[in-house]
Amino acid sequence: MARRKKIYEGKAKILYEGPEPGTFVQYFKDDATAFNAQKKDVIEGKGVLNNRLSEFFMQGLTNIGVPNHFIRRINMREQLIRQVEIIPLEVIVRNFAAGSLSKRLGMEEGTALPRPIVEYSYKNDALGDPMVSEEYVVAFGWANQQDLDDIVSLALRVNDFLSGVFYAVGIKLVDFKIEVGRIWDGDFMRLIVADEISPDSCRLWDVKSGRKLDKDVFRRDLGDLADAYSEVARRLGVLPAQTTHLTKPTLIN
Ligand code: C5P
Repeated sequence: MARRKKIYEGKAKILYEGPEPGTFVQYFKDDATAFNAQKKDVIEGKGVLNNRLSEFFMQGLTNIGVPNHFIRRINMREQLIRQVEIIPLEVIVRNFAAGSLSKRLGMEEGTALPRPIVEYSYKNDALGDPMVSEEYVVAFGWANQQDLDDIVSLALRVNDFLSGVFYAVGIKLVDFKIEVGRIWDGDFMRLIVADEISPDSCRLWDVKSGRKLDKDVFRRDLGDLADAYSEVARRLGVLPAQTTHLTKPTLIN
């Protein structure tokens, strides 16, 4: 069998050449990293859960008309996606103070923000993904002002959708990160949601208990990460109700 061509390997995913032009295969690894890969581990089952959860969110976005890269699931760890030209920004939306915002401003985690705040980090591992302003984004040519308007609009639509989906299962969406890519239809360019949406890239707190159900469990040594992600998947109906990750993820189609 011919080996697939690896296009790119990141910390949590690998991209392979897809079966048709304009597609990639996105493979979800079990690797967990934090603090720019200074902390690393392998969490059995994480890749399977994130593959399925990202599919769930991307399909939901498709259903409400928010364009994104997802085409179809291939297997437990792989999905077919549209090839995009990634804009080198992490687009972060915050509803409540947490993480780097709390640190930067000395604001208690969980404080409600006056409105959703959209911010950008420049995607660069060597520099530790520094926060950048719109001025930087436009001046350095990563995106123009029209692109930024479209990115904010996409990010806020994703925020409204995800906040509602999570709240319906008793989870508060504190903040999250998306990436945005360009696709071309002839000379016409469109921006679409790319990369992944999963508990790796969101902060998710149980509404009642405040229990953390996201990658902060790993970052802050708060318990079993796969357990937390399984709980999210179970509540969303992506995993059968009685399953724990110890029985290994069994997915519902
Ligand atoms: O660390 P910080 O508070 O800036 O993170 C904000 C949100 O963006 C969190 O949900 C975090 O998981 C996500 N994020 C990410 N990848 C990064 C940085 C942040 O998914 N490289």
